[in-house]
Amino acid sequence: MPERDAPLLSIRDLRITFRTRTESVRAVDGVSFDVYRGETLGVVGESGCGKSVTMLSVLRLIPPSTRVETSGQILFDGKNLLQASKREIRHIRGRRIALIPQDPMTCLDPVLKVGRQIREALEAHGKLDAAEVERRGVALLETVGIPEAGRRYDQFPHEYSGGMRQRAMIAMGVANAPSLLIADEPTTALDVTIQAQIMDVLRAAQRDTGASLVLVSHDLGLIAEMADRVVVMYAGHVVESAAVQAIFSAPRHPYTLGLIGSLPQTTGNEKWLRPIPGSPPDLAHVPSGCPFHPRCFLARGREICRTTRPELQSVAAGEHRSACHFVAELEGASAVPAATHGGGAA
Ligand SMILES: Nc1ncnc2c1ncn2[C@@H]1O[C@H](COP(=O)(O)OP(=O)(O)OP(=O)(O)O)[C@@H](O)[C@H]1O
Ligand code: SF4
Ligand SMILES: [Mg+2]
Repeated sequence: MPERDAPLLSIRDLRITFRTRTESVRAVDGVSFDVYRGETLGVVGESGCGKSVTMLSVLRLIPPSTRVETSGQILFDGKNLLQASKREIRHIRGRRIALIPQDPMTCLDPVLKVGRQIREALEAHGKLDAAEVERRGVALLETVGIPEAGRRYDQFPHEYSGGMRQRAMIAMGVANAPSLLIADEPTTALDVTIQAQIMDVLRAAQRDTGASLVLVSHDLGLIAEMADRVVVMYAGHVVESAAVQAIFSAPRHPYTLGLIGSLPQTTGNEKWLRPIPGSPPDLAHVPSGCPFHPRCFLARGREICRTTRPELQSVAAGEHRSACHFVAELEGASAVPAATHGGGAA
């Protein structure tokens, strides 16, 4: 486990609301978590719970065309990025924090060849001669599994497939040797061999530079294997956070239990099974009280679940936090036998 000095990234009470003519979507509603130096933080939660919006807001990449209200703090090395100037953000983006977005087109420049964009990333760290830059750029594309990397280096992003674009973003992110890498679903569209290759690239980058990694993924097997700590999000909230072993062996939130219960019983490419009844709420109409109450097996019609939002609070040693009024009833709960976890969490 990495040392616990001051966090590199500290998100405090982040709230992000999208406004349309008719409604407000509270995509992120009071999210707080820390990322420590050198660690891998896994972020999990069903589709639409605010993971990508949280990550995009770190680098202020939420599309400017939307009407959005943001409050709270995103402290990076002590500096509040929500109040940094555009110039400061541009300087931090890529050099100190690299985001590999779920949709690579949010960050790739469509009018510049991929090679040129990688070159800019490499040159941000000092002058290199042109041949050396190209050699390193092509080698990076090779390490992320892009076939015919020499030819691909001279192509535009639109000539790449979606999966290749994402891999090109990973190459660029790694080229910068940032102190924080945020990878939002970096392997979803990729086959298993390439997935493993991408994870090796991220691990190697982390090992070489001591970077922190935030890994957003639906793949709990991957999270179990890669993460040191895990943050579980539901409907724009953090509902549980803990060391990876605690999340998988002693989850203390009914939602996490449901998620882990949905781990495939064998590793591989099976679809994510879903024993949690119902689906996550529309964020324009989040349920009152605990946002999970309509789906929660533990709520059993209890009034407090319908009326009062539970705070995220410490439930056990080792910074294990959960937001559930009845967390004590989950003591000793486990989702699936440890032997079936598939990853390194057992
Ligand atoms: N630019 C936007 N304008 C309006 N609403 C948005 C915008 N971006 C995201 N949202 C809404 O914010 C909510 C959270 O979206 P987000 O993309 O963060 O989910 P997610 O947890 O990353 O889901 P997934 O697992 O599917 O990637 C959703 O309800 C989404 O519709
Ligand atoms: S507070 Fe109530 S509804 Fe929410 S997770 Fe706990 S038991 Fe379930
Ligand atoms: Mg997302």
